[in-house]
Amino acid sequence: MIKGVDSAPTKASLSSKKASCKKTAKLEKYPLKVSALNSHQKEVLSVGPHITVLLDEAVHALAIKPHGVYVDGTFGRGGHSKKILSQLGVDGRLIAFDRDLAAVESGQSIKDTRFQLIHSHFSKMQERLAEMGVLQVDGVLLDLGISSPQIDEAGRGFSFRYDAPLDMRMDQSRGQTAAEFIAQTTEQQLAEVIKNYGEERFAKPIARAIITERNDGRAITTTGQLAQIVANTVTRFEPGQNPATRTFQALRIFINQELEELSLTLPQCLNLLAPGGRLAVISFHSLEDRIVKQFIRNQEHRDDLPANFPVRAADLPQPKLKSVGKAIKPGLSEVKSNPRARSAVLRVAERTSIL
Ligand SMILES: C[S@@+](CC[C@H](N)C(=O)[O-])C[C@H]1O[C@@H](n2cnc3c(N)ncnc32)[C@H](O)[C@@H]1O
Repeated sequence: MIKGVDSAPTKASLSSKKASCKKTAKLEKYPLKVSALNSHQKEVLSVGPHITVLLDEAVHALAIKPHGVYVDGTFGRGGHSKKILSQLGVDGRLIAFDRDLAAVESGQSIKDTRFQLIHSHFSKMQERLAEMGVLQVDGVLLDLGISSPQIDEAGRGFSFRYDAPLDMRMDQSRGQTAAEFIAQTTEQQLAEVIKNYGEERFAKPIARAIITERNDGRAITTTGQLAQIVANTVTRFEPGQNPATRTFQALRIFINQELEELSLTLPQCLNLLAPGGRLAVISFHSLEDRIVKQFIRNQEHRDDLPANFPVRAADLPQPKLKSVGKAIKPGLSEVKSNPRARSAVLRVAERTSIL
């Protein structure tokens, strides 16, 4: 998967002043203008393959039962789904979701009666499964964020590497684009988005520069314009990183309501999992990972009563989840062959039999 290119920096990189470098010039190789490319060049840009992250680890974590029912909440290009199918028996079942129509179209090539692919946000998981008569499953996988094809297809507007319409929606059939958001937001709201979702220390000056440009009659409609405004404003950024990385990440998370989607979905996974069923979540930045970690912890340690509260241990709420192992990160060789994997973290939990 991907996400890494425009993804969040680590905590260490956030706090490391030494690691940042002073801007010496404007962006040198300015974004490729998509409208200036010929059709072959456009196609080349759009066909970046998706390399599945933590493929073996995530599918192993699900401890697949051949007759089980599994959910892949983030089909992407089907790397995890195909591996799950390869481990299911003839009467096993896999139901996959993706909110991106291009991902769903790519999955039409999988001709397998055990497999169904649904165009939907994963936050509708429980409802969609209930409509299909599925009330319990043996495992759920979420491989969060965006896929390489989403980033690499210039016209999707996720990347500062190309100059293209500023869209950023995973589901292009609905919702507000990043350009539409910028056209109507306030400076304060924009600064909050950039700070909260991008952990960008220059959030305020960036927001001010964007809104000034907009209010001067220059609508911000392309990734190139946005990247240039940020580059003109940010004076310190990590070496090797584009100054617009955090701003693009922030807008993407906001436009797609990524953290809300995750928070709405984890309790549904808990409701759906059969005793012994597994939840496996791959996050790509600390904001997501924090939500996953906290959710598992809250279900695992349901003893948040004051220390001397007069109640017997046996009367405390019993855990509905137990962690399976420690957080798993890609090894050096995976990161070397797929740099976009570098920020991935896999967390796994198992449903107990407590109702
Ligand atoms: C990292 S990719 C998954 C890659 C996949 N595991 C593979 O091996 O090909 C994430 C995918 O999840 C989808 N996605 C992200 N958030 C979603 C949500 N809330 N609901 C449904 N799909 C979502 C994205 O559109 C993208 O296709």
